Amino acid sequence: MGYDAKFRVWRGDLDGGELHDFTVLVNEGEVVLDIIHRLQATQAPDLAVRWNCKAGKCGSCSAEVNGRPRLLCMTRMSTFTEDEVITVTPMRTFPVIKDLVTDVSFNYEKAREIQSFTPPADLKPGEYRMKQVDVERSQEFRKCIECFLCQNTCHVVRDHDENKKSFAGPRYLMRIAELEMHPLDVGDRTELAQDEHGLGLCNITKCCTEVCPEHIKITDNALIPMKERVADRKYDPLVWLGNKLFRR
Ligand code: SF4
Ligand code: SF4
Ligand code: FES
Repeated sequence: MGYDAKFRVWRGDLDGGELHDFTVLVNEGEVVLDIIHRLQATQAPDLAVRWNCKAGKCGSCSAEVNGRPRLLCMTRMSTFTEDEVITVTPMRTFPVIKDLVTDVSFNYEKAREIQSFTPPADLKPGEYRMKQVDVERSQEFRKCIECFLCQNTCHVVRDHDENKKSFAGPRYLMRIAELEMHPLDVGDRTELAQDEHGLGLCNITKCCTEVCPEHIKITDNALIPMKERVADRKYDPLVWLGNKLFRR
């Protein structure tokens, strides 16, 4: 059975905007993205929203629903009561382009700053061998769909634009951790993680982990192990000496 729901959708651009009220039909089994599409089809044809897969896999439809960072295509209408007013706003951490679409290029800039996978120079294609345990460890991080909800949520940058220059954010600190744990990678990003990518600004609140639609344990499995590596490098004299003598 369908019902009429009350929606408040932010509309505007970089110069400003406001919440617009809509009453819109909801059918059984629908998600918030269906309702946004119905608004486009019936009441607001120029309402901007980014999406691609409608299956929780492309990471395009990130926004905030009732103030909580969510994928619009994975947020079921059945999680709200029929009389609840549902507010949909763009991700707060990134500049708005139009309506629900934000400019997420900050994330691509951070991605480019990280040294890519660096195998030993003498290793030839076909000679790459890894233990299953190492494959499994990085596989969790490879589930990332680059929705940037974790980046949007992290308080280090959410209300502090000034920190963006010196903070890569959880998604890219996790990328550094993935490469550092890779047995065939000879790069050394530990000190850079701390000094240039802002690992020290993370105070392991786990808010990034809570919003990850892929349920990646960003804080426990990537950020905390990276912090431990930094502490080992800085404060354990034997590890320090070992690193100097036998640097990978
Ligand atoms: S755990 Fe660290 S990276 Fe994640 S939200 Fe908290 S401060 Fe940000
Ligand atoms: S780690 Fe999770 S929340 Fe962050 S970008 Fe990847 S999928 Fe999205
Ligand atoms: S449309 Fe692809 S994740 Fe939502």
